[in-house]
Amino acid sequence: MTTYITTPIYYVNSQPHLGHAYTTIVADTYNRFRRLCGEDVRFQTGTDEHGDKIVEAAEKEGLKPREYVDKISRLFRQTWPLLNVACDRFIRTTDEDHMNLVRVILQRVYDGGDIYFDRYSGLYCTGCERFLIERELVDGKCPDHQVVPREITEQNYFFRMSRYQQQLIDHIKNNPEFITPERYRNEVLSFLEEPLEDLCISRPVSRLDWGIRLPFDDRYVTYVWFDALINYLTGIGYPDSPDFKRFWEGAEHLIAKDILKPHAIYWPTMLMAAGVPLYKKLHVHGYWNVDETKMSKSIGNVVRPAELVDAYGTDTLRYFTLREMSFGLDASFSSEAIVARKNADLANDLGNLFSRSVSMVNKYCDGMVPEPADTDGDSELEETAAVMLEKYRKAFGDFQFHKGLMAIWDFVSMANRYIVQNEPWALAKNEASRPRLNTVIYHLMESLRLLCLVLRPVMPETASRMQYGLGLAEDDKTVVSLPDGETWGLLVPGTVLNRIDVLFPRIDVRKEKAAKKEQTKKKESGVKEGGREGELEGVITFEQFQNVELRVARVVHAERVPKSDRLLKLEIVVPENRTIVAGIADFYQPEEVVGRSVIVVANLKPAQLMGVRSQGMILAAKTKGEDGKDRLVLASVAGDVEPGSRVA
Ligand code: MSP
Repeated sequence: MTTYITTPIYYVNSQPHLGHAYTTIVADTYNRFRRLCGEDVRFQTGTDEHGDKIVEAAEKEGLKPREYVDKISRLFRQTWPLLNVACDRFIRTTDEDHMNLVRVILQRVYDGGDIYFDRYSGLYCTGCERFLIERELVDGKCPDHQVVPREITEQNYFFRMSRYQQQLIDHIKNNPEFITPERYRNEVLSFLEEPLEDLCISRPVSRLDWGIRLPFDDRYVTYVWFDALINYLTGIGYPDSPDFKRFWEGAEHLIAKDILKPHAIYWPTMLMAAGVPLYKKLHVHGYWNVDETKMSKSIGNVVRPAELVDAYGTDTLRYFTLREMSFGLDASFSSEAIVARKNADLANDLGNLFSRSVSMVNKYCDGMVPEPADTDGDSELEETAAVMLEKYRKAFGDFQFHKGLMAIWDFVSMANRYIVQNEPWALAKNEASRPRLNTVIYHLMESLRLLCLVLRPVMPETASRMQYGLGLAEDDKTVVSLPDGETWGLLVPGTVLNRIDVLFPRIDVRKEKAAKKEQTKKKESGVKEGGREGELEGVITFEQFQNVELRVARVVHAERVPKSDRLLKLEIVVPENRTIVAGIADFYQPEEVVGRSVIVVANLKPAQLMGVRSQGMILAAKTKGEDGKDRLVLASVAGDVEPGSRVA
């Protein structure tokens, strides 16, 4: 059996956040789980780089679309290794092989008579990158983006999606697992009860030229969704590569509910029209909210994965997201929730089980896994392990990661109870109970081996550390392969343990609270934070930029500051009167600046310079004069602008 797991390819109009991280962590975990089961798997993620939204975002940054997409796509690619996500291909819609395949498929569908030219009037939502129909609107607005869509009338190409409506309904009904969880399958079927409209799949080049030109009419580019969805075929070399033949029948797409329609309706009908068999499954999850509110740039509560990794560690983040969200439903992120999970589940339950068991091996068995003597009274632990393995396989196979993790933690609790019930420290006091002590300790070590095995897809780094701690070689099959490792009792007595540091140090909640307070204070005062993401991008956020108040000011009076060669004292109007001290006396005579419009930072904390209070800072460009020496040139605005006007 093969599996081909994909994430959506993310728009490069925003930087990676917790939502993108979650989908990608889930896909990576599923990839690792299937491999652990001994299956042949391919995993793909990437970036979606054409369309209106991208052009808009590039313009905002003053970059050409190409420069802009390269920059943001790189940010995504650099983020995934921080989360220990390892894909087989990171695809970009600007990749040459992808653009070629989109043209091939468009031509094929056109030749098959499923693309036609027509005039169209519709309500277009830039956020969704699609025309919406009346019944999708709530109070006249797009429910996802809260904007009134634009009315657009133009001639365009259409995909005859309606032709495949019945075939799609039949497929969904005959394949109950095609769309999961069931609530999303029902949502799609109920949408399909109404007649399906054809899909507008082009944009005139006059309106948008950052896209793939239609092979049969180069006055148009193709619609982003027709471009983006095809990435799933490009990535495995459709049509000729052996990878396509090997992996397509095992294709499982993973998305959040925001893009259900394109994946559950456009994509299968596109595949039908192109004569390609349908993908196997679509897995749909809910949204991450932050402190009960939807994560959004404008609210300013966007959570960045790199910051979470810095604060809590990669494996904690992976575990937390998979455990906290019931797949299919919405979940809420808060730093309190992640700290609580780390301290309770990871440090207390799992971490303590590991450290207590290992320290007993060191204390009572010379650091070596002992030979068990009998199994009387231990069958409950062994049986719980078997139940855990069964539930784990089923839950992870069905994308119910939280349930799989609950089953694992039931076993962790059972093992912790087993220590309390058997009191190894009491057994150690009496030489006659040595065989029983060895048995108890062996069973604990065997439990840890199984935990290392099942936790590997979720927390690969922790699993490797546990493996090393248990004295097992890197290629030891009993901890890297489920079929080779799931039988109870495979740990070899005599194995010598290695020393490792605590698996999960506890987080001091009080310190954490103080740090958070400090961070909020810094954010509010607009201080730029360092941190991994800042270093990665070398940029400030829009919110940070907005904290700087730039205004146009008129200089009404200027004089030298006594006893200073460098400083001029300027009286300005912004529109209120202020005094500013500027280090420009080497380059400007006082009379030269009077009457000029300059740009000032108006909300800078006042400072005392040579006894004069300066209320702001004047902007100047630093350049070299003809003599090769530094020269300052005052920044100003072209044209007549009222003093006090904001520069943004
Ligand atoms: N480019 C399209 C997808 C094309 S796939 C052929 C797109 N991009 S996106 O950047 O908007 O990514 C949407 C996806 O990001 C969601 O489906 C989900 O996987 C992830 N998430 C974005 N925000 C999220 C949350 N707040 N919560 C959970 N997942 C979120 O749509």
